[in-house]
Amino acid sequence: MNQFSSQLEAIEIHNIDRILHHPVLSCIRGHCCSNFDFFYDLLLQRRFVSHAITNLYDLAIDSKINQECKTILRRILREEYPDYSGNYPSHREDLVADLEKLGISLNTILNSRATEVTKLSIQAMLDQLLDYSASYSQIKVIAFTRFIGEVLVAEEYKAFWPRISFILGDAAKKKSRFFWSHIRHDQRNSFVDSVTRSSTHASHLGISLVKCIQSENHVSLFKEAENAAVAIKLSFYDQFLNRLP
Ligand SMILES: [Fe+2]
Ligand SMILES: [Fe+2]
Repeated sequence: MNQFSSQLEAIEIHNIDRILHHPVLSCIRGHCCSNFDFFYDLLLQRRFVSHAITNLYDLAIDSKINQECKTILRRILREEYPDYSGNYPSHREDLVADLEKLGISLNTILNSRATEVTKLSIQAMLDQLLDYSASYSQIKVIAFTRFIGEVLVAEEYKAFWPRISFILGDAAKKKSRFFWSHIRHDQRNSFVDSVTRSSTHASHLGISLVKCIQSENHVSLFKEAENAAVAIKLSFYDQFLNRLP
């Protein structure tokens, strides 16, 4: 925690709120729509974004950032593919397993394709990171990667969870290999007390990020990077607005 932690906290809470109040996520959270096709289509599109996250991390690791952040990013990236033996599934395989448990057939999963909006939002995410990297802005690289790759991921999946757990029924947390574990290991902790509670990806990166923020100007860079992430996320969910009741 430093003198800017409270400011970072307020900015981040506000930005999470902007995402959670997107009508599509509000609808999913509130069970206002019983149309499961819409939710399935959304999950299938969201899968393509999940695949792009490793790309994002590779680009972030190539950026000029401090060694501590680089090590954390490498570690997170390697967790996607948990072993060298080939005996254990990757997180991507866990995602497919969850989609099947939710009732989406493997045939549907294999035949799904990213929409133009999904492709644009993935490209926007990678281009934004490349711009931050090219401008040697360590704070923007870390803030953007952490927010779009960890904090918002957990918040999105938390928003999906009421519907996922409804479909999975009893012991949903045990049945879900992907969504529940990512809520747990990605989610943020408060910037104000993250030093004492540092067990998630977002908090590991958050602790390192806070150390880099030493001026009001740095806070502005953080805010700019988070705002860019919010804009990309909102555009992804906009594509489902016409599916709402
Ligand atoms: Fe993962
Ligand atoms: Fe993560």
